[in-house]
Amino acid sequence: MYILDCASTAPSAGNLEAWDVVLVDDRGIREELSDAAYGQEHVRDAPNLLVVCANYIRSMSRYGERGILYALQDATIACTYMMLAAHARRLHTCWVGAFAEEEVRTILDLPTHVRPAAILCVGKGHPPARLTERLPVGEHLHYNAW
Ligand SMILES: Cc1cc2nc3c(=O)[nH]c(=O)nc-3n(C[C@H](O)[C@H](O)[C@H](O)COP(=O)(O)O)c2cc1C
Repeated sequence: MYILDCASTAPSAGNLEAWDVVLVDDRGIREELSDAAYGQEHVRDAPNLLVVCANYIRSMSRYGERGILYALQDATIACTYMMLAAHARRLHTCWVGAFAEEEVRTILDLPTHVRPAAILCVGKGHPPARLTERLPVGEHLHYNAW
């Protein structure tokens, strides 16, 4: 609940909070989701999964087509807040975006107006074997125009 309380403070388009989350702690469902995520073992082994979804109806009811983008942005910002909140509680997370969407829909019985954006694995991980590298920030930056 701490993690979700933090996520609910995230900014969202029009303050509509067009995201929802399915908390999965059931081992059997985690195994099914791991299969849907092409066998990624951390999806099976993490004790808790937060399947973060964009809720299109909540956003499109005010913003129409633009609401699709807003709902995806709301969901991914909320997911990022969840990662930070978990970190604050000394938990580890892994954002999983590679999954067969239709399979995830079926496993979790998601309604059609909801799109799963990320499976966030939450648990106690191992220290990283090596730090990941990043592009020099100059690769991202464009001055005044592209
Ligand atoms: C949109 C997105 C999709 C991702 N999908 C996966 C995934 O399917 N499986 C996985 O293990 N990590 C996934 N990651 C995590 C990235 O691999 C990871 O953030 C990146 O390699 C940098 O590593 P670091 O976050 O440990 O620094 C994803 C991250 C994002 C933002």
